[in-house]
Amino acid sequence: MTDPLVLGVESSCDETGIGLVRGTTLLANAVASSVEQHARFGGVVPEVASRAHLEAMLPTIDRACAEAGVSLDEVDAVAVTAGPGLAGALLVGVGAAKALALGLGVPLYGVNHLGAHVAVDVLDHGPLPEPMMALLVSGGHTNLLHVPDITSDIRSLGATIDDAAGEAFDKVARVLGLPYPGGPHIDRVAREGDPRAIRFPRGLTGPKDLVRHRYDFSFSGLKSSVVRWVQAQERTGEPVPVADVAASFQEAVVDVLTRKAVMACTEHDVMDLQLGGGVAANGRLREVLEERCAEAGIRLRVPRRDLCTDNGAMVAALGSLLIAKGHEPSSLDLPADSSQP
Ligand code: KG4
Ligand code: ZN
Repeated sequence: MTDPLVLGVESSCDETGIGLVRGTTLLANAVASSVEQHARFGGVVPEVASRAHLEAMLPTIDRACAEAGVSLDEVDAVAVTAGPGLAGALLVGVGAAKALALGLGVPLYGVNHLGAHVAVDVLDHGPLPEPMMALLVSGGHTNLLHVPDITSDIRSLGATIDDAAGEAFDKVARVLGLPYPGGPHIDRVAREGDPRAIRFPRGLTGPKDLVRHRYDFSFSGLKSSVVRWVQAQERTGEPVPVADVAASFQEAVVDVLTRKAVMACTEHDVMDLQLGGGVAANGRLREVLEERCAEAGIRLRVPRRDLCTDNGAMVAALGSLLIAKGHEPSSLDLPADSSQP
């Protein structure tokens, strides 16, 4: 018997994603992003995102079906991100998924967005280790997850207590006069800079923080510190050494992310770590994480770039794993839950 064909719907932030997965085989991953509509605001505007999802939903479904060479009525199950995310944005995806499930007469599976970020690697590197650790870093989230079983047991060890890592990249880029979203620009500019030029603070790494916030992150103090440093430099009349500031800022973020991720693995005796989210594209983050994981004997998995950022394939992948493990579908009353843990 062939595995069921699962259609995944993602709409929690600014990407409308439709994925088609059969078993653990990726057939299509169509994404429409509204990022350009948010650029002039320097961040995602929820109302603009919801509207963009409405416009993009049907064309993206069509595009995914064409990419996979299947017709909608071949779909055996629909999976959708039920949360966390922007309330209005989630509603569009959940509404679309319910309509599809009802119209096609197939089961509906509501999934957690962060769980889907982890599950996606099954499409790239095969079965997920059980247990595993995951470091998810994007514009919307920064989480350290301990995952004994992706379909039923995801434990949050820590998260950011203020800005997400990608958000910090975007805000600092703005201060340095780089375009939105700033992460890739900082990454590029930093290659010409000295990461040791300026010692920026490493949030939540002091002895007391390591008791109360052992696996949590904080980037807003770092961002303020960069702003103050740049303003002081501007007052001197000297040019701001953009590459050095970018490299030093990036080093502070990467240092804390990698240190805490490795610590979480060794302290829980979980020797498989997955990196995910848009910030996983960062060259320095990959480099340092690879080094530190190798030193600690941790196996590192990083899904390919288009699977790291928000997409529908990750949702379909988790739906597919839920079906494979015999989980019950959601009811058609499935709520969009923006604050789902
Ligand atoms: O996962 P994603 O596409 O969307 C969500 O935020 O959910 O992540 C986007 C974030 C943005 O903040 C962007 O600046 C950051 O990922 N980003 C990077 C890099 N590429 C994207 N940050 C640092 N270095 C990069 N190369
Ligand atoms: Zn995400």
